[in-house]
Amino acid sequence: MGNKYRKPTTLHGDAGSRCSLSVVVWCLVGCVVMLHFYSLLFDRNEVGGGIQVRLNSRLSLTRELEKIEEESFFIPPPRGKRSPRAVKRKPKPKRPTTIIEEFLDENSQFRHLFFPDRSTAIDPMKMTENDDLYFYPGRMWLDTNGDPIQAHGGGILYVERLKTYYWYGENKDGPTYHAHKRAAARVDVIGVNCYSSKDLWTWKNEGIVLAGEQANLTHDLYKLNVLERPKVIYNDKTGKYVMWMHIDDANYTKASVGIAISETPTGPFEYLYSKQPHGFDSRDMTIFKDDNGMAYLIYSSEDNSELHIGPLTADYLGVTHEMRRIMVGQHREAPALFKYQGTYYMITSGCSGWAPNEALAHAAESIMGPWETMGNPCIGGNRIFRHTTFFAQSTFVLPLQGIPGSFIFMADRWNPAELRDSRYVWLPLTIGGAADKPLEYNFRFPLWSRVSIYWHRKWRLPDGLWIDQR
Ligand SMILES: *[C@@H]1O[C@H](CO)[C@@H](O)[C@H](O)[C@H]1NC(C)=O
Ligand SMILES: *[C@@H]1O[C@H](CO)[C@@H](O)[C@H](O)[C@H]1NC(C)=O
Repeated sequence: MGNKYRKPTTLHGDAGSRCSLSVVVWCLVGCVVMLHFYSLLFDRNEVGGGIQVRLNSRLSLTRELEKIEEESFFIPPPRGKRSPRAVKRKPKPKRPTTIIEEFLDENSQFRHLFFPDRSTAIDPMKMTENDDLYFYPGRMWLDTNGDPIQAHGGGILYVERLKTYYWYGENKDGPTYHAHKRAAARVDVIGVNCYSSKDLWTWKNEGIVLAGEQANLTHDLYKLNVLERPKVIYNDKTGKYVMWMHIDDANYTKASVGIAISETPTGPFEYLYSKQPHGFDSRDMTIFKDDNGMAYLIYSSEDNSELHIGPLTADYLGVTHEMRRIMVGQHREAPALFKYQGTYYMITSGCSGWAPNEALAHAAESIMGPWETMGNPCIGGNRIFRHTTFFAQSTFVLPLQGIPGSFIFMADRWNPAELRDSRYVWLPLTIGGAADKPLEYNFRFPLWSRVSIYWHRKWRLPDGLWIDQR
């Protein structure tokens, strides 16, 4: 940016060199004042008007998204923090004291706000004109058979040839239990479900495309193990659909990735093997296929303290030796990667089990890094919503065919009391405008475009997006 403020050389002309020193000084002062004003403006945006400013950024491309309702849902404020000493002296409070505790408490009087009941379900078979094609984040979502969609921790593959979206995710339609006293809530491995859709709203159940194993105790997919975050990409060279997933034992000590392949998007997938990529523990993960056909694995490692990223082999059935550690010491999981105009972006969550936490957006010029953290991408709703990723955790970011720079952010609102009743939070994500956390060395001038995820109680995709598809 320095060049922009360099004193024009014509000033040297008549005034001569005696004058030039004071001109330089005044120019420097001017620069500092401008920087200061910029900072002030910037800070004010962050506190108050930021949402409005950013809303204008890229939404002109998707006018339909501008018209949707803003957050109107009210959550009572937390009932105040207790100091650790107060907690020691007094008996444990019976009522939850924070919104997160309220969210996790299956007897909370506010539970219907987080998990609205079936009467409000999105049902494509019983749609009224008012609700046709509207997304309602957090509501129950039914497939074309009228059953709640079971595709948790999922991802979507668009198959151009078939003009169809395929949504893969965990089938958690079994009882929730704790394997032992200290274990997290779990559901036995049932398998990976697949749903197909032309419009991203009406989903047909294509069944279990990779089934859990009922009897064989040594099999990776044995029901008492863990299968999470399945993602599918298509290999143009081998003509195979390749699924990667997190494979673990009930205590999360196996920490591996599993790989399965299929001839068709709807399976059945053949399970091949699991491995620890690059010899490291691997838990939450995703895969990303770049424009040039290169694919990458991104996984939480070193006990979730950092992420690792590395290219897959040409057949997508393994990793190469190349690997970079990124976001070291930042303790991030649930990575969702996407690309726009040559820049790579990632959304991650913190590590707090089934409890929601704050999302962060990251950006990089090269997929192998360095990656920079840009701050919380969540916008709108209220403060608590923004600080809990709308009570959800990232799982995937889907580019919208036909609207460059617009994406759908897909997240899971986990329900640890009844995991099968976990909800989907899908929201519009756009790239554009100023980053809200200035990076080091940039004098508060953002180097990256802002990634924004807008809260909407109700929203729909632009009309006409599906004209040639429905
Ligand atoms: C059980 O699974 C293991 C590992 O996949 C396999 O090697 C073994 O053949 C299986 N046993 C049976 C009886 O299918
Ligand atoms: C998991 O940990 C519990 C408690 O430490 C132990 O009893 C159990 O055998 C472990 N299970 C596996 C599959 O390692």
